[in-house]
Amino acid sequence: MKEILQELERRREVARLGGGQARIDAQHARGKLTARERIDIFLDEGSFEEFDMFVEHRSTDFGMDKTKIAGDGVVTGWGTVNGRTVFLFAKDFTVFGGSLSQAHAEKIMKVQDMALKNRAPIIGIYDAGGARIQEGVAALGGYAEVFQRNVLASGVIPQISIIMGPCAGGDVYSPAMTDFIFMVRDTSYMFVTGPDVVKTVTNETVTSEQLGGASVHTTKSSIADAAYDNDIDTLLQVRRLIDFLPQSNTAALPEIECYQSVTDPDMSLDTIIPANANKPYDIKELIQKVADEGDFFEIQASFARNIVCGFGRIEGATVGFVANQPMVLAGVLDSDASRKAARFVRFCDCFNIPLVTFVDVPGFLPGTAQEYGGLIKHGAKLLFAYAEATVPKLTVITRKAFGGAYDVMASKHLRGDLNYAWPTAQIAVMGAKGAVEIIFRKDIADPEKIAAHTKMYEDRFLSPFVAAERGYIDEVIKPHSTRRRLAQGLKMLRNKDLTNPWKKHDNIPL
Ligand code: HXC
Repeated sequence: MKEILQELERRREVARLGGGQARIDAQHARGKLTARERIDIFLDEGSFEEFDMFVEHRSTDFGMDKTKIAGDGVVTGWGTVNGRTVFLFAKDFTVFGGSLSQAHAEKIMKVQDMALKNRAPIIGIYDAGGARIQEGVAALGGYAEVFQRNVLASGVIPQISIIMGPCAGGDVYSPAMTDFIFMVRDTSYMFVTGPDVVKTVTNETVTSEQLGGASVHTTKSSIADAAYDNDIDTLLQVRRLIDFLPQSNTAALPEIECYQSVTDPDMSLDTIIPANANKPYDIKELIQKVADEGDFFEIQASFARNIVCGFGRIEGATVGFVANQPMVLAGVLDSDASRKAARFVRFCDCFNIPLVTFVDVPGFLPGTAQEYGGLIKHGAKLLFAYAEATVPKLTVITRKAFGGAYDVMASKHLRGDLNYAWPTAQIAVMGAKGAVEIIFRKDIADPEKIAAHTKMYEDRFLSPFVAAERGYIDEVIKPHSTRRRLAQGLKMLRNKDLTNPWKKHDNIPL
């Protein structure tokens, strides 16, 4: 028996070495950890249960029958993150560049199926060059089966991708169908085809960073939700995110002990809005003051910064915050902001995470650049997302809520459950200047008359009271009581029961 156990251990040792010490050293020299080191950091200590350590590919073409490596370039299994089960797979770049063979795909599918069956999140750690070229269509088929499972699991269990090396082909398309993508600065890249192929096909010379580095995908393409400085930081941040998420679309929201009173007023909020309505303030300050212990996990912080999205907790339970950011483009809604927030709202709705929306929006951004870029369709995404959402929706208008953007930002008319306004709110079709220039066009040459009209318009419309008179605002609240009001509202809405009419699925304007 002792020899049998020793033989098992010997085989395990070989498998754990993946592509061998030289390739592990090369991985470290590039500033990257190995697949197994990443799993060790990501999961609770000692919780990893591995599957399929001895799986090998079955390819014989191109001399592949002479190069078989136990595990075949991906480490799979399950473990826990702060005690909660997650399934995961980590691509091993030291084995055929982490590329996907049919056998490798079967390993991933096994954990995908188990995650779905057992209703737990699945995390993919990517560092790989896509379909294994030597396997041809068998690898393509393998990827398509992984994609199919991504789609079936979408909206049922959280799926998270962590990009930790150069990734191409299927190793970017599978992540693209998951809920969140995180990258590591300077060592991870995402592209459908790498710089060499780009040079051949388009004669364009680009570096990996220019083509698909974290700087591109967090600021320009919006493919990635965040990037961090190194492997360890990235893995720890994703652990933090998982703490906010439920296990599945039917599981309860995770709740943790809340150490900050929800009843204490925060008097600093009474002065957060500047006296001059055109002066900006940082909406993140409000989010951090309302969220338990100021803990806020922001999504896409570097893209469309005119809207802020992310997770926090109120009285221990997760909420999704969406807020216009007056510091950037005065918080206007444009195509990028609409797309960003729409996707976030839909994620929260899938997983029963209540939405808290802070509104300070001067409207939609006018102009040809936006119109040609499809503002109508992109803006409609956010409108659609809020309107279809059945989770508790709590809205606080802090200042401007103008025009269509008032409607869009979780207004009462889109089944907002609790719609509050601060006394500083201005709810109108547009700001005073634009309104007066349109309705009093005949007086435009007379500054005195225009000033009088402006004053009248401001007094009548630039307040929360016209909306409150109609019941579009449930209550005008004092800013310092915002956290208490939201906590009470969330408690009241715990058993909210609202369903949309049966349909196969909706037809959101994609
Ligand atoms: C087989 C691969 C491979 C692949 C990399 N390797 N990608 N082997 N199939 N797809 C191997 C390399 O041959 C090399 O082996 C080792 O992995 C490391 O690769 P390098 O090129 O030395 O590393 P690096 O310079 O860092 O470049 C990484 C890379 C590049 C950017 C990923 O390797 C690359 O562009 N690979 C091809 C990407 C690709 O086009 N894949 C197919 C996509 S199609 P040795 O032994 O020499 O060290 C696809 C279909 C899905 O995925 C469908 C999508 C809808």
